[in-house]
Amino acid sequence: MVQAPQPVDVSDIDLSDLRFWGRPPGERYEAFARLRRRGPVFFAEAGWGPIPPGPGYWALTRHADVVEASRTPAVFASEPSAISVPDLPRDFNEFFGSMISMDDPRHARMRRIVSRGFTPRMLGKLDDDINRTAARIVDGLLDAGPCDFVSTVSARLPLTIICEMMGIPRDQHRTVFESSNVVLAGADPDYLGEDADTALHQLLTAGGNLAALLAELAEDRRSAPRDDLTSALVNADVDGEALTGQEIGSFFILLAVAGNETTRNAITHALDLLTRHPDQRELWWSDFEAHAGTAVEEVVRHASPVVWMRRTLTEDHEMNGHRYRAGDKVLLYYASANRDETVFADPDRFDVTRSPNPHVGFGGPGPHFCLGAHLARREITAILRELHRRVPTIHATAPPRRLLSNFVNGVKELPCAF
Ligand code: HEM
Repeated sequence: MVQAPQPVDVSDIDLSDLRFWGRPPGERYEAFARLRRRGPVFFAEAGWGPIPPGPGYWALTRHADVVEASRTPAVFASEPSAISVPDLPRDFNEFFGSMISMDDPRHARMRRIVSRGFTPRMLGKLDDDINRTAARIVDGLLDAGPCDFVSTVSARLPLTIICEMMGIPRDQHRTVFESSNVVLAGADPDYLGEDADTALHQLLTAGGNLAALLAELAEDRRSAPRDDLTSALVNADVDGEALTGQEIGSFFILLAVAGNETTRNAITHALDLLTRHPDQRELWWSDFEAHAGTAVEEVVRHASPVVWMRRTLTEDHEMNGHRYRAGDKVLLYYASANRDETVFADPDRFDVTRSPNPHVGFGGPGPHFCLGAHLARREITAILRELHRRVPTIHATAPPRRLLSNFVNGVKELPCAF
């Protein structure tokens, strides 16, 4: 059903102002509720250092708009960039964004090749690794006692699994961790220099480190393939398709940021949510396996670790009563669509039995839908299963210390005890 714009005052909301993202989550969600009632709103773009501010963007905050834009990629294109509001040079975007900022046919080719690593058979093979790593992490937690949950638990699992999948040697996992923190730091001064030139330099250095690490690994696997994803991607398959050295570097950067930070934040938010909603913890813990499927989806909906992705209009187009022009930018606010009261009853409520739950936390239906969604679900389930079994009383002892970012719903620190 098309919702007509309503006279709702949104003049106090500026999504381009970083201070908005430093406001408490409750205030932000209240602002998004007003934006949803209002319909698409245009925001001026914030410039970034030497990069000139462009012409601004429409904020898509309703579930229906996010879903329709996602499944109409010929009109809502991912090029020139899905992950930055300013139009950065294409090379820069592809270095950091890989296929997430590509359209067909280039996107389809990349997706076909890298999907080899994410088939049910490949993921099934990873299950043992995931369970073993989750058990080892909980051993460490029990040894540590009260501690920071992010660095002791949630940051470890996704990073280890991506590195193991790719075949990265253990002694280089730390470099991957530190570099991916910088690439996805948003504007947080804990990770990036305050002025844009320094920040840009840090970003390029971190990306360069990740790409160099992979280039070396790819070279090795080309001559001596092993049973890892890097070998599968650099050695041509039956149709003669393989990734070039540069493509594998960029794809790895995408995995290191897309698969690492997101899953880490989902796990951290899970502990925070279970602490703040003891009734839901009790319910889930009363029969872990019965509720795990719906509970994990609800964590992803409620937390929305990825706040938005960008699309750019290839032609004039009308959607849900609004007319867009060719060249317009739109930001698909997953975090807002996942709170849309026309789709989710009582959307702020954390309900581990919510069903159906058509959230867009992994993106809307379309060619870019999260490649790692099944892997993320397996990881989140595995670590929570282990916590439920061995540390059932674990809880957060203070509110999360949040990352200052408009793109990732990140948590830097969450003290826990059990
Ligand atoms: C809770 C964890 C995760 C969340 C919330 C998440 C979210 C997302 C979102 C919102 C997109 C964009 C969808 C679109 O543009 O339509 C995406 C794409 C992607 N994700 Fe995830 N993700 C998660 C975990 C992972 C993991 C574990 C991996 C891999 C190891 C991964 C790899 C990717 C890749 C490669 C893409 C780009 C796909 C394409 O362009 O075709 N993600 N993810």
